[in-house]
Amino acid sequence: MAATIIHTEAHGAVGLIRLNRPEALNALNGQVMLEVVEAMEVFDRDPAIGAIVLTGDERAFAAGADIKEMADASAVEMLQTDRISLWDRLRKIKIPLVAAVSGWCLGGGNELAMACDMIVASETARFGQPEINLGVIPGAGGTQRLTRAVGKAVAMEMVLNNRQLSADEALAMGLVNRVVPVERYLDEAVALAQEIAERAPLAVRLGKEMVNQAFESFLADGIAAERRSFYFLFSTKDQKEGMQAFMEKRKPQWSGK
Ligand code: CAA
Repeated sequence: MAATIIHTEAHGAVGLIRLNRPEALNALNGQVMLEVVEAMEVFDRDPAIGAIVLTGDERAFAAGADIKEMADASAVEMLQTDRISLWDRLRKIKIPLVAAVSGWCLGGGNELAMACDMIVASETARFGQPEINLGVIPGAGGTQRLTRAVGKAVAMEMVLNNRQLSADEALAMGLVNRVVPVERYLDEAVALAQEIAERAPLAVRLGKEMVNQAFESFLADGIAAERRSFYFLFSTKDQKEGMQAFMEKRKPQWSGK
């Protein structure tokens, strides 16, 4: 499939993938995610590439899953299409993934950044899981990876009350690796990826796998439970109201139904 919503290019031994839906703050629709996953698999198979950088633009890494695409879906449709299972392929990429994050990094965007192995953030980056505003919860690993990354106390506030983290807060909490001025975040991410790509390839792959093993024990069960809960919420009036209100640019009226 020809990539149309993302750009890919090689920088030395680094495969660079840029999300390119600026008009929607790089919201992750099905096609973007498919293109990202396929581009990562192509780089992963290329012996000349030793690491991947995934980025958006200065305004947004990604403002979440595409609300307009899923607003009308029923729980049965969500379960049957099971779009998020595509994300399982990300976990099989063997070379390191570095997310270069500037601006909004919300919902599915934050989940995508956390599905990478390292995050380089610009000073302007803003991390959050605002799904509660839409009457749903994170569905692509957010409740699981965020809790492991920032701890229970902060994860609860983020998931239940849309607390958002500045880049410096995210650094202090261990969610990101480093914070740099906005002019340099992409170069810094590519330089970090290049350094790693020059190291012993088999040790890098196994090192990544083993750190993820420590981080991800029991993750698969948690991810599966989270995904079911997310899909279930599409049977509620509150999900329909929350997403409709976002599209109509008004405050939602919750009914608890
Ligand atoms: N899905 C679809 N479209 C989106 C979007 C999203 N997640 N985020 C932004 N957009 C669109 C907006 O609708 C708008 O389009 P129009 O010009 O056609 O109206 C355009 O991008 C620019 O956005 P705003 O005008 O809203 O920009 P802003 O600067 O005023 O606000 C923002 C920025 C605070 C990030 C706001 O866009 C926002 O709140 N976005 C939604 C964030 C969100 O709720 N993310 C979670 C999604 S659900 C999810 O991710 C589930 C999961 O776990 C898998």
